[in-house]
Formats: sequence, structure tokens, C-alpha cells
Amino acid sequence: MTSAKPETKKFSVSTIVALAVVLLVVLLSCVQYLVTIALAEGPATADASPIFGVTIPSGYKQWELIAPAEEAAPLDELRAVVGNQTAIDAYQAGKLPFSDGTILVKRAWKRKQSPEFASATIPGAATTVQVMVKDSRKYAATGGWGFGRFVNGKPVDEAQHRTCFACHEAGAKSRDYVFTRLAP
Ligand code: HEC
Repeated sequence: MTSAKPETKKFSVSTIVALAVVLLVVLLSCVQYLVTIALAEGPATADASPIFGVTIPSGYKQWELIAPAEEAAPLDELRAVVGNQTAIDAYQAGKLPFSDGTILVKRAWKRKQSPEFASATIPGAATTVQVMVKDSRKYAATGGWGFGRFVNGKPVDEAQHRTCFACHEAGAKSRDYVFTRLAP
């Protein structure tokens, strides 16, 4: 009888210690997980488009021109659609649909009269940067394309991003949802 009591106590203490250790490990791994998420996604989400998580690709100002375009009033803009090498390769091969990894960027500026030559129109202030990224699995619900529209480097609101696919689908479905043709 006397020996049973301390034995029970000993058992309880070691159980408590074991539970405490397990709890500590669980808590620590959760903390580590949360910190990882915060570090990985915290800064990125501010610059990524809603719904799609598309960001402005680095180096796009050096990308090859696919075609220029002009938008009438009220926007009155000059535009240039450029693409990464995957996009250019597909255009040159006349290949549809575009491969995963294709990125198209539409740059836009206010139309401005040249200060040196009255009939010439030149780019004024930059207005929007619009991006389409091809990832047929990630963006299966929107034709394989993720969309992003940016003003001053920041993504516009979710409502605007809800309009992208509908218009591209209505106007360019047969061309893998891409309007722009390679300029001759
Ligand atoms: C009302 C129709 C419409 C909507 C809405 C629209 N687009 Fe477009 N988009 C066009 C047209 C037309 C072009 C062809 C180039 C041009 O005229 O400027 C185009 C071109 C583009 C291009 C170049 C590739 C291509 O298809 O020619 C990108 C990138 C793009 N749009 C991104 C977007 C994003 C991002 C959104 C949503 C935030 C969006 N678009 C919403 C009509 C639309």
C-alpha cells in the first residue's frame, strides 16, 4: 500500500512533464509555421493583384515589343504590349495556346503632343501596367490566365480584377484570350 502511492505520483509527474513537452513542441512548431507564412507572404501580398496574386514582373521594361496600340477618348492613351521570351517564341511560331510561363504586359501612357513637333504624339505620364500570366493549372477557372492591373506599382481593387477575364473571353476566346497580334 505504501509503495503504491509514490509510484502513482511518479507516474503522474512524468505524464505531466511529457504532456508539457508535447505541448511546447506543438506550440513552437506553430509559431515557426506562422512566422514562415508572415515572412513569405506578408510583403508579397501588398504588391500582388487580388484574386490572382499576380505581380509586376521584374525587367519588363526591357522586354520585346509585340505591338503598340492607341486608345481613344476618354482614356486618350498610347499603349505598348510587350512579352517575355516565352511569349515572343509563341508569337513567332504562331503557336496557340500560349505555353505556361508566358507573361504579357500592357504598358500605357497619356497621349501627349510633342513639344518639338506639333503633329507628333508622344508618351506622357504612365497610367497603368497590366499583366497576364499563363499558368493553366493555377488559373484553370479563367482560361489559364492570371490578371493584374497596377497604378503607381500598386494593384487596383478586386472589383476591377473581376472584369478582366469576362472581356478577354468575350473578345478573344479563339485566340487564347489574347487580343494583341504581333505587329508586322
Ligand atoms: C472591356 C474589355 C476589357 C477589359 C475589362 C480588360 N481588358 Fe485587357 N485588353 C482589352 C483589349 C481590347 C486589349 C487589346 C489591346 C488594347 O486595345 O489596348 C487588351 C489587352 C490586354 C493585355 C495585353 C494582351 C492582350 O490580350 O492583348 C493585357 C496584359 C491585359 N489586357 C490585361 C487586362 C487586365 C489585367 C484586366 C483587368 C484588370 C483587363 N485586361 C481587362 C480589353 C479588356
